[in-house]
Amino acid sequence: MSKTIIALDFSSEREVFDFLDRFKKPVFVKIGMELLYSCGLGIISSIKNRGHQIFLDLKLHDIPNTVRAAMRNLASLNVDMVNVHAMGGLEMMRAALSGLEEGKKGDKRPLLIAVTMLTSTSVDIMNRELRIQGSVEDTVISYAKNAHSARLDGVVCSVNETDLIHREVSEKFLTVTPGIRLENDSTDDQKRVATPQIARLKGSDFVVVGRSITRSLEPERVYSHIEEIMSSKLDI
Ligand code: C5P
Repeated sequence: MSKTIIALDFSSEREVFDFLDRFKKPVFVKIGMELLYSCGLGIISSIKNRGHQIFLDLKLHDIPNTVRAAMRNLASLNVDMVNVHAMGGLEMMRAALSGLEEGKKGDKRPLLIAVTMLTSTSVDIMNRELRIQGSVEDTVISYAKNAHSARLDGVVCSVNETDLIHREVSEKFLTVTPGIRLENDSTDDQKRVATPQIARLKGSDFVVVGRSITRSLEPERVYSHIEEIMSSKLDI
């Protein structure tokens, strides 16, 4: 499985396939709400039929029974990775996993990842609006522990939280990290960014990369470069 996930932050099918046609080999892509809601579910099989792997980033959060049924349907689409909000609680996360097991095609179910705290949530929002006390970091670790005890496969987190999660939760618990930029790239709207080298050194299992690849004049070259770093031994 590729360790570099390209965020397909496009709003039309045409843009997606113009972009993917520039790759000679299959890649791992992330489809979010924007693309799915504008193109419909058909885009998933069109991308799958071309051999690509898919992280379907829909961040489910609902009552356990609904999430279980939704996950059963998502598993039948044969996607490779899906996610839920850890804030939905242990029972919801366990139900999500059961739904994936029930709906999977063949032996393999999609990997199930939890979103801990959205990076747009500041400590102030968390304390005053969501009424969760303490630091964001403590909440992230405690939600990651919940996700691990519900037997999920990992969490979405920032590169800065990766080693802490591996230390406090489990070395084998997967960390999927966005906010990646090559050294000379613009940071755009991302507040905290890391290079693929740092992500690799800190132990990220997957990096999610959008604009550094999608806006590049040579997307395949940039993708291969990042993938090489992510797959390299640690003495880089
Ligand atoms: O273009 P860029 O590399 O910043 O895109 C990052 C992708 O990762 C986007 O799809 C963004 O929504 C997603 N993401 C993020 N930060 C999070 C969670 C997801 O940037 N905390």
